[in-house]
Amino acid sequence: MLLSVKKLEKRFGKRTVLKGVDFSVDQGEVVVIIGPSGSGKTTLLRNLNFLENADAGTMNFKDRQIDLAHPKKDDVHFVRRHSAMVFQNYNLFKNKTAQENIAEGLIYGQGMDKRQALTIASDELKSLGLAAQANHYPSQLSGGQQQRIGIARATVLKPDVILFDEPTSALDPELVGTVLDDMRRLAQAGQTMVVVTHQMSFAKNVASRIVFFDDGQIVESGSPDQVFNHPREERTRQFLGALAENY
Ligand SMILES: Nc1ncnc2c1ncn2[C@@H]1O[C@H](COP(=O)(O)OP(=O)(O)OP(=O)(O)O)[C@@H](O)[C@H]1O
Ligand SMILES: [Mg+2]
Repeated sequence: MLLSVKKLEKRFGKRTVLKGVDFSVDQGEVVVIIGPSGSGKTTLLRNLNFLENADAGTMNFKDRQIDLAHPKKDDVHFVRRHSAMVFQNYNLFKNKTAQENIAEGLIYGQGMDKRQALTIASDELKSLGLAAQANHYPSQLSGGQQQRIGIARATVLKPDVILFDEPTSALDPELVGTVLDDMRRLAQAGQTMVVVTHQMSFAKNVASRIVFFDDGQIVESGSPDQVFNHPREERTRQFLGALAENY
């Protein structure tokens, strides 16, 4: 197993938002997390990357055992160095070009020589068909292009796992497909991914496993066919039924 957490608990004040989550991702898996708003999906991803501090639980990442409530600084750096996160709202540096944004993590995170990093960024832009946008600032890019740059920025770091939190939910509908295409290609290239999304066609066609999350817990987990076509839990059936009515 590449990454697993056991008995992960997270409270905000008196409210317990993650109620003892056992979650794992194998090398090469694409795990899609679905579930209602407020159920704790974002909080789970943020805990996997130490953007939040857990109240209890353990993590095993690349054979390193980590106490989530009391992680060592070195553990936090280790996990961040080998993982990347893609957010809903791109989070690009506004005063840097597309190319500079992609190179940023290589230079400041990995200590790569600036020229080499910019070359890698430029090659990545070419392979995405975005070479013409290399010197554009985020304000000069469409939402879809910004998110594709955001994904490229994560990809060039060659992380063991990329965590995506609703990467298409801020986009105009006609731009969603371009971002999902990049993600599908990444998945086909063997990139390990954990994806929170409401894009059910992506979930059905690309995921190796679906996790249905509700009320701070994993309700069920299985192949797309099992979860979508033969859900074991009544709560999953209700959620999928409500989705079908709304989409
Ligand atoms: N920093 C915070 N302080 C207090 N409460 C928080 C904080 N972050 C999240 N919460 C609460 O934790 C719960 C889970 O939030 P979370 O954002 O993880 O849900 P989600 O499943 O990602 O929802 P959505 O689908 O709407 O993005 C919510 O009730 C939310 O209000
Ligand atoms: Mg969320």
